[in-house]
Amino acid sequence: MKILVLNGPNLNLLGEREPEIYGTLTLDQLNTQLVEYIQNSYPAIQLDLFQSNHEGTLIDKLHEVRNTHDAVIFNPAAYTHYSIALRDAIAAIDIPVVEVHLSNPDQREDFRKTNVIRDVCTTHFQGKGLQSYIDAIDYLATGA
Ligand code: DQA
Repeated sequence: MKILVLNGPNLNLLGEREPEIYGTLTLDQLNTQLVEYIQNSYPAIQLDLFQSNHEGTLIDKLHEVRNTHDAVIFNPAAYTHYSIALRDAIAAIDIPVVEVHLSNPDQREDFRKTNVIRDVCTTHFQGKGLQSYIDAIDYLATGA
């Protein structure tokens, strides 16, 4: 099984970006923890990692992995709240896409309560920092 962890805009600044909301782990540290978790818990799974600040690049990546990977764990960041183009890309591909967030956007500003991608994703995990991603891995690995 091959899973892509796809992170959207501003997540390259994790660790220094609003740490009171997003925590102190950098993106590299978060990725390292995910790889270690996979190696220890599901060594047969291959985990690939990609981050972009650009909507079109994220769309291209979703198109690309539709034939190479079995699932995507996707934190679309701010695009969650308004990108119909990313929504359409998720809807266009047949592999499961699991939405994740470090924070819980449903409990923050009103504009974050608008979510244009959730209903085309397989499921979502949010509000638990790194654990949101781990929960998504467990979900895909065990079919929970
Ligand atoms: C986020 C939540 C979004 O509302 C925000 O724009 C982000 C990060 C999260 O992981 O909590 O950039 O997706």
